[in-house]
Amino acid sequence: MKSFKAIAAMSENRVIGAGNKIPWHLPEDFKWFKKMTSGNIVVMGRKTFESLPKPLPNRRQLILTRHPRRLIRSLPEIFGQHKEWRGGRHLKRPYQFHFTKLDGDRRQDIWVFNSLDMIKPAEFPCDIFIGGGAQVYEQALPRCSDLYLTLVKRVVEGDAFFPPFEDRFELVEEICDQPEFKILHYHNPAVVGS
Ligand SMILES: NC(=O)c1ccc[n+]([C@@H]2O[C@H](COP(=O)([O-])OP(=O)(O)OC[C@H]3O[C@@H](n4cnc5c(N)ncnc54)[C@H](OP(=O)(O)O)[C@@H]3O)[C@@H](O)[C@H]2O)c1
Repeated sequence: MKSFKAIAAMSENRVIGAGNKIPWHLPEDFKWFKKMTSGNIVVMGRKTFESLPKPLPNRRQLILTRHPRRLIRSLPEIFGQHKEWRGGRHLKRPYQFHFTKLDGDRRQDIWVFNSLDMIKPAEFPCDIFIGGGAQVYEQALPRCSDLYLTLVKRVVEGDAFFPPFEDRFELVEEICDQPEFKILHYHNPAVVGS
C-alpha cells in the first residue's frame, strides 16, 4: 500500500521557519525540492501555502485547512478572481475543493482538504509528498514511509521547528554533502512505501 513521503529542510537547531518564511536562501536545495516534487503532489498546511509567492508550478498541491471556505474567500487572486479558477468544483466528500488553472500549455491543480485523513496516497498515481509546515509534519510523519531531509549547516533563529523523527526513522543514504547543507534520506520501517 502506497504511503506519504516527507520532504523538509531544517537547521542544526531544528528550525524550519521564521515569521512564516523559510529563513535561508539555498537555490541548490530548492532545485532538489523541485526535482523531487515536480510531476508529483505536495501536501501543505494553510500557513505554508499562504507563505508562497504563488502556487508551485508543475505539481499538484493539496492544501490543508479546517476552514476551506475562508481560505478560498481570502485568496480571490488564486481561487476566484481569475476566470480560469472559476472551474473550481465541489468534490464528492464535504469540504474538498478542486481548482484547475490552465497557464499556457501547463495545467495547475490545487485541492483544498479539511482533514489529513481524507487524503489517501493509494488514490493518486504518483508520489505524494508532505511539504510542511511544522503542524503538518508533526501529524503526518508517522504516516510517511520516507523522509528526505535537508540539514542546513547553520544555527538559525525561528518559530517553526521540525518535530522529533529519529525514533521512527532510520538513515538510508546521504544523498549529497555540500558546504552549506547535506541531504539525507531516511526510511520508516513501520510504514510500507511504494
Ligand atoms: N523548511 C521547510 O522545509 C519548510 C517547509 C514548509 C514550511 N516551512 C515553514 O513552516 C512554517 C509554517 O508552519 P506552521 O506549523 O506554522 O503551519 P502549517 O503547518 O503550514 O499550517 C498550519 C495550518 O494548516 C491547517 N491544518 C493543519 N493540520 C490540519 C489538519 N489535520 N486538518 C486540516 N487542516 C489542518 C490549519 O489551517 P487553518 O488554520 O486554516 O485551519 C493550520 O493552521 C513557515 O515558517 C514555513 O515557512 C518550512
